[in-house]
Amino acid sequence: MDATIVPNMQKHYPVLLKEIISIISPQYGGTFIDCTFGQGGYSKKILNFDNTNVIALDRDVESEKVANQFKEDFKDRFIFKNIKFSQLNNLKLKNENIKGIIFDLGYSYTQIKDPQKGLSFEAEGKLNMQLGLNSYSAEDAINKLDEKELEKIFKFFGDEKEGKYIARNIIKERLKNKIDTKGLVKIIDKSKKRKNFKVHNATKVFQALRIFVNKEISELILGLINAAKILKKGGVLGVVTFHSLEDKIVKYFFKSLSENKSISRYSPATEQVETLFKLIQKKPIIPSDEEINENLSSRSAKFRYAVKKTDFYNFDTDIEDQFRNLIEIEKYGDKL
Ligand SMILES: C[S@@+](CC[C@H](N)C(=O)[O-])C[C@H]1O[C@@H](n2cnc3c(N)ncnc32)[C@H](O)[C@@H]1O
Repeated sequence: MDATIVPNMQKHYPVLLKEIISIISPQYGGTFIDCTFGQGGYSKKILNFDNTNVIALDRDVESEKVANQFKEDFKDRFIFKNIKFSQLNNLKLKNENIKGIIFDLGYSYTQIKDPQKGLSFEAEGKLNMQLGLNSYSAEDAINKLDEKELEKIFKFFGDEKEGKYIARNIIKERLKNKIDTKGLVKIIDKSKKRKNFKVHNATKVFQALRIFVNKEISELILGLINAAKILKKGGVLGVVTFHSLEDKIVKYFFKSLSENKSISRYSPATEQVETLFKLIQKKPIIPSDEEINENLSSRSAKFRYAVKKTDFYNFDTDIEDQFRNLIEIEKYGDKL
């Protein structure tokens, strides 16, 4: 699993921008949904083409500041909603021709540099990690969940092999002191026998906690299901992921809805099987060396997309069953 990275740069670079724009083709007009508005990198590029409209979402209310400037510049071609993308189905759409829905997962440069958010292991103070519209923080998780629950979070969301010892030491330490960011980094350093000289010792645990606090697995699964419902025939659904867990979910979703496994391989080859999506390419699109040189944190990005083949609204997907164990771990948060 790839790791959460603290980028060494001064602004947020929208990843794979050129590639994504060439795939969603805003030059032909239409309405696009930018599910992760952030600093508006994708939205702006789309709106620069005439006859386009953008509905932008972001769970972080801070994005509204950038969105307000967009409203001035692009008037009624731009709408912003401070909601989570799992709520896509609550958008009151008036039969808009939704040509593209884009997700750029994770967090932006601005967010990781915001000390209040406590996303970085370099941050001082309280453990937080809430991107916005959350019910609990990383501090709640670290100070209230039991040892087994913490161990599972570190293992399944961070692929942290030494999660057991880290969880045990967290339980011991919190009897004495409330654990803050620096305290957690110290516990991780003390607990880990296998040192990794390429990435910071705390990377995996911090990624795991961020996924847990923001329920990123359930958000992604629900976001994909709802996006697939509202997209119009011929529209593109595209997702940029930054670690293998997210990529596995997106890959499974597209694969399962673009092939009909139930059809016998002995059926006549001419038989047309109706599936929701057409996968244009199986392999994800990754940043060029040039992009990575300019923006190191793009190095773990992968973009997958599919084109909706029908106007079906209702369809079956077993994606929730497939990732049930992860959804159940996120539910530990319900009691916090
Ligand atoms: C990588 S940034 C997007 C950057 C954006 N593409 C740009 O060019 O500026 C990810 C954004 O998605 C938002 N986000 C993450 N999870 C979300 C969710 N479940 N619902 C809505 N927004 C979310 C974050 O708050 C963050 O602003």
